[in-house]
Amino acid sequence: MLILGIETSCDETAAAIVRDGREILSNVIYTQIPLHAPFGGVVPELASRNHMEKISPVVEEAFRQAGVKKEAIDAVAVTSGPGLVGPLIVGVSFAKALSFSLGIPLIGVHHLDGHIAANYLSFSDLEPPFLALILSGGHSHFYNVKAFGDYELLGATRDDALGEAFDKVARMLDLPYPGGPHLEKLALEGKPSFELPVTLLEEGSLDFSFSGIKSAVKMLIDKIDLEKEKANVAASFQETVFSIVTEKIRRALRLSEKKRIVIAGGVASNQRLRALLDELPAEVLYPPLSICTDNGAMIAAAGYYLYEQGKCSPLTLNARANLSLSSTEDLWITCG
Ligand code: KG4
Ligand code: ZN
Repeated sequence: MLILGIETSCDETAAAIVRDGREILSNVIYTQIPLHAPFGGVVPELASRNHMEKISPVVEEAFRQAGVKKEAIDAVAVTSGPGLVGPLIVGVSFAKALSFSLGIPLIGVHHLDGHIAANYLSFSDLEPPFLALILSGGHSHFYNVKAFGDYELLGATRDDALGEAFDKVARMLDLPYPGGPHLEKLALEGKPSFELPVTLLEEGSLDFSFSGIKSAVKMLIDKIDLEKEKANVAASFQETVFSIVTEKIRRALRLSEKKRIVIAGGVASNQRLRALLDELPAEVLYPPLSICTDNGAMIAAAGYYLYEQGKCSPLTLNARANLSLSSTEDLWITCG
């Protein structure tokens, strides 16, 4: 079964063709980073317009690279939320038009379901149940993945998502947007010489809180010679937040009595985090760098498992800016 996956929830226009939910035939990502960089963050209106310009050529390129004709695909999967509403509408409208004109099923996918499914593309025999931790620009959430597409929320950030905290601290350090990867690079040149608050919240809690650390960095910056200490601040921030993440993972494994956890989302591409994860006494899986950040292949993979469960979307599918992973049922009707 060949599925075209489309992702336009933020600042990447992405399309991919995936066979049987596991094998990537093509994965085309057009990033808008240079477009938004001068503004220090994503400008939603610019993002929408740029998605409209790029969606068609990106999808064409996905077919070309896969060596597949449009008529050969069996379904089209698309991110319907959460994300920026304008960008989402572009992908959803395009997917609906393709589904209608080719007479093939449409499958609305939750963006986080996609991030988790990136691991199905990387580990061919991975199947639920397992624990999942999503660390992206919008989410820092622990889930118990009970079955394909069946998620129980175990904990979430109470303020900033981890990627968002990286981006905000990076901005304080005058690093370009998006800050995460730049902060990681800068941290390599420094030492974690400053103490920042390790916020673990109540015993047993799988929630996160990163805003206190962000404020502590701000206060620290006001006191020191920033130019001289920049790399040390980056390293201190990174080590502090990752010590929290690894401690919470230990906690999640202990509380759930599970031995396997899957990590997903943009922050999972951080090499320092990966090194720390490899030291944990458990099976910790994360996808290769190429499919950690937003892409169409992960959406096609998630779409495959939904289709297998008979879940397809009507042509009235909408963009849903605030879609929660535990309230996705109304995206679907029975396929057929
Ligand atoms: O999953 P993603 O591509 O988009 C969302 O769904 O949000 O994640 C993007 C986030 C951004 O906040 C970005 O700064 C962060 O992931 N990120 C990183 C790294 N690469 C991306 N954070 C830390 N280290 C990285 N290497
Ligand atoms: Zn994402």
